[in-house]
Amino acid sequence: MALVNGNYLKLKAGYLFPEIGRRVKAFSEANPDAALIRLGIGDVTEPLPQACRDAMKNAIDEMGTRDGFHGYGPEQGYAWLREAIAKHDFQSRGCDISAEEIFVSDGSKCDSSNILDILGEGNRIAVTDPVYPVYVDSNVMAGRTGDANEGGQYGGLSYLPITAANDFTAPLPSSPVDLIYLCFPNNPTGAVASREQLKSWVDYALEHKALILFDAAYEAFIQDPAIPHSIFEIEGARQCAIEFRSFSKNAGFTGTRCALTVVPKGLMGTSATGEQVELWGLWNRRQSTKFNGVSYIVQRGAEAVYSEQGQAEVKALISFYMENAAIIRRELSAAGLTIYGGEHAPYVWIKTPEGMDSWGFFDHLLNKANVVGTPGSGFGAAGEGYFRLSAFNSRSNVDEAMRRIRAL
Ligand code: MLT
Repeated sequence: MALVNGNYLKLKAGYLFPEIGRRVKAFSEANPDAALIRLGIGDVTEPLPQACRDAMKNAIDEMGTRDGFHGYGPEQGYAWLREAIAKHDFQSRGCDISAEEIFVSDGSKCDSSNILDILGEGNRIAVTDPVYPVYVDSNVMAGRTGDANEGGQYGGLSYLPITAANDFTAPLPSSPVDLIYLCFPNNPTGAVASREQLKSWVDYALEHKALILFDAAYEAFIQDPAIPHSIFEIEGARQCAIEFRSFSKNAGFTGTRCALTVVPKGLMGTSATGEQVELWGLWNRRQSTKFNGVSYIVQRGAEAVYSEQGQAEVKALISFYMENAAIIRRELSAAGLTIYGGEHAPYVWIKTPEGMDSWGFFDHLLNKANVVGTPGSGFGAAGEGYFRLSAFNSRSNVDEAMRRIRAL
C-alpha cells in the first residue's frame, strides 16, 4: 500500500494558472472562433535576445567537439556565470555579494519552494495577502501549515494584507514570525518597496532572528533609481535574507530556464538543539544532492545577458513591456477603472468595477472581450475585488485588448 503525502489533500483547488487554463480551454472549445488575448499568466512573448541566442549556438557547437564537450557541470553553476552575476547584479549596486554565494538554478519558482528543504518544521511563517501562490502552496505541500479555513487561509500562516489602504506595502507582523516571504516589485500588485520599507523589514528580521525570503524576479522593471533592486542593498540583510532572481522576465528565459538564489555566507539558522547552523552549507548540500545544475548551453546564454549587446537588448525588452504597461494603465484609467502598479513592474492591478468579484470580472472579460486576465482572489483572500493584467504581450495584442475593454 503506497501512502500519499496527505498534505497535498489540504491544497485548495488547482494551482491558480492551471485553473485559469482549464476555464479558458472550456471557453475556447465552446467558442472556437473567439480570438483570445492572454494577459493572464506573466509569460514573456518577445523573442530571445540575439546575444543569448548567439552564445547558446556557440555553446552547442563547442559541445560537438571533443575539447569543448561538457558533461555534468558544477551543481552551483559555472564560476564564470556566478562571477558575472555577482559583479553586474550585486557588486555594481554596492551589495557585498560574492560569486560563491550565487547558486545558479533552473527557476526561482523551484528555488522558493525547494528552500523549505533546509528549513525546519515549526517556523512561524508570514506571507503577504495577496501573494504569489507558490509560497503558500509549497508550505502546504511540505506540511508546514494547518488546514485551510473557509476563506482559503491556512492555519499556521500569518497573512499580512497588502491593500490600497496601506499602498500595497507589507505591514510588519503583529505577532512574531520566523520566516517572511517578500516579493518586490510585487507579484501580483505591481507595488514596489522603498529603501525605508525594506530597512524596516531587515531591522525586524534582525531583531527577531527571522529569515527573509526575498523574491526579486521583477527587479529589472524598476524605473525609479531610488528603489532598491536587491534586499542586499540594505545594511544587515546579509545576516537575515536569502534572495531569488531569475532570467525569465528580463531576458525572456521562461522557456529557456535559468535563475539564481543568493545565500550569504555566515547567514545562520538555529538547530532543534539551539546551535547556530550556516544556511549556505545546507543549501549547497541540498543542491549537490538533488540538483544536477543548469545546462552548459543555457548558462552560456545567461552569461551573454551581461555582455554589452545583451544589456542593450534586455533594456529594450524591459522598455517594450513597460510601454505595454503604460498603455494598459492609460486606457483602463480612461475607461474609469481604478488601477495600481504597472510603473515598476509588468503587472497592473485593477479594482474590479461595480462591486464585481474577481472571478466574475474574469468571466466578464473572457466572455465579452475575449481577454484573459488573472482574478485577484486567486492570489489570496485580500485579492478579492481586484484583477491582474500582465504587460507581457505583443503591442498589437495589448492595443486590441484595451480597445475591446474600453468598448464594453
Ligand atoms: C505569474 O503570472 O504570476 C507568473 O507567471 C508566475 C511565475 O513566474 O511563475
